[in-house]
Amino acid sequence: MQVQVDQKSEIVNYASEKKAFVDEKAIDLLKGQKNFREIIDTLLKEGIIFINGEAVEKKLIKTRLDGLETKKITVENKGFKPIAKEHDGKIRILSKYDVTGQSKSEGKTENFLHYFRRKFELLSQILKRRQGLSPRPIARVKLIPKGNKVDVIGMVLRKWVTKKGHVGLEIEDLESKCIALIIKDDIGTKGIAEKVLVDSVIAIKAVKWNEDLLIVKEVFWPDMPVRQAKHVDTDFTIASTSDFHMGSRFFLEKECNYFINWINGREGGAKEEEKVGKIKYLIITGDNVDGVGIYPNQINELVIKDIYKQYEEFSKLIEQIPEYIEIVICPGQHDAVRWADPQPAVPKEYLPELNKRKNVHFVGSPGWIDIEGLKIMMYHGGALHDLIGSVGYLNSEHPEQAMIEVLKKRDIMSTYGMKQPYVPEREDYLVIREEPDLVYIGDMHHNAYGNYRGTTVINSGTWQSRTDYQVKLGHVPTPGIVPIYEMKTGKISENYFVEKKD
Ligand SMILES: [Fe+2]
Repeated sequence: MQVQVDQKSEIVNYASEKKAFVDEKAIDLLKGQKNFREIIDTLLKEGIIFINGEAVEKKLIKTRLDGLETKKITVENKGFKPIAKEHDGKIRILSKYDVTGQSKSEGKTENFLHYFRRKFELLSQILKRRQGLSPRPIARVKLIPKGNKVDVIGMVLRKWVTKKGHVGLEIEDLESKCIALIIKDDIGTKGIAEKVLVDSVIAIKAVKWNEDLLIVKEVFWPDMPVRQAKHVDTDFTIASTSDFHMGSRFFLEKECNYFINWINGREGGAKEEEKVGKIKYLIITGDNVDGVGIYPNQINELVIKDIYKQYEEFSKLIEQIPEYIEIVICPGQHDAVRWADPQPAVPKEYLPELNKRKNVHFVGSPGWIDIEGLKIMMYHGGALHDLIGSVGYLNSEHPEQAMIEVLKKRDIMSTYGMKQPYVPEREDYLVIREEPDLVYIGDMHHNAYGNYRGTTVINSGTWQSRTDYQVKLGHVPTPGIVPIYEMKTGKISENYFVEKKD
């Protein structure tokens, strides 16, 4: 304690000698640094007189990154005693919701028919559990007198705007169809029409207008039940990351090496060691490599042009993560599996070394796991692009909101026939049959966090810098940021391996 007080005075005295002002957070960060004078001097040279925590943090990250360029060989931190090393991980793969090894579709018409029927059954079962709804089969609507109220459940076959500006929906259950109209100026259904997507399974409360026409009064999606977030009594944490894109010329090698050093307890002093030592799990949500031939002229953007070599490099990176950490990896659209959802796990032949490791687990996308009693869904995110493109109220810089929309619909593939292909499997792996406590996504290269009815959604970012394609789209990624989730409290903290932007 005495040492800390002395060091604090030293920092404050040095700063005032130099006519600089330091705030509490800056002092806190400088306390662990032997070269604090040098850091203050550099900031002053840059014209920063009011030295706050953020300025110091930025400088520390930059210094570490510069160091990594010249010093690739890292020294083990023998004093690092991670508590997570002393405990076995409690992790279970929920393979019944994972297509890996279970793909049975032949892509025939009957597969598609079965698939849509199964999806309707699963989602209508969830809707029927909802209080306040008394759904009737659509075929029975004909028997109801005009002007009476009626509830129905159906899949949206068609959606269109009438000449008068109302929105028409053709909905179908397993036996029959009907037309439902969302009236343009009805305050009760204002803003609803945009959220109703073709192929969604919905329930409507309506009034019968005539023989075949219902007027919509309320729309319900299968949705999640209202519930509290589940926390578990453990000090261990879950770190997560995504979209390494190994092999791409945009892969941030230096920053990634910094992350590897950090997770091995070689960065940041005692406080950081304590935090890192609690990481027991690491979730990786796909695009592990950049792949080959994924888009036109991709070859010009690859520094490793062989898919096996890309995986070899990815493997070398993951092998450097301590073996006491349980790692779960799902594929993405750049990986060596089918592009269509649901995607099976990356085949063993690409990652033979990692497959020998007991602490590395491969799942599909979506993939489901149980960690310490928390139910977790991992999904790379391909279908979210289509969802974002279909409505005006979502965007790729808030992928968590798109995922929350998916949770409301309880269906990852909430709109079909767009860019994201799907395989009509016998079992529906895209309907969200159970309520996850955590959902990890990737794909958007944008760190984002959200909560919805007890479920936490995390997008874990990327290790790929801004690509030319993203510049064209105007998309700004957030590479080099690794979130940590505290299972005890639900708190999320971000760890920067790039310079913090203002
Ligand atoms: Fe990606």
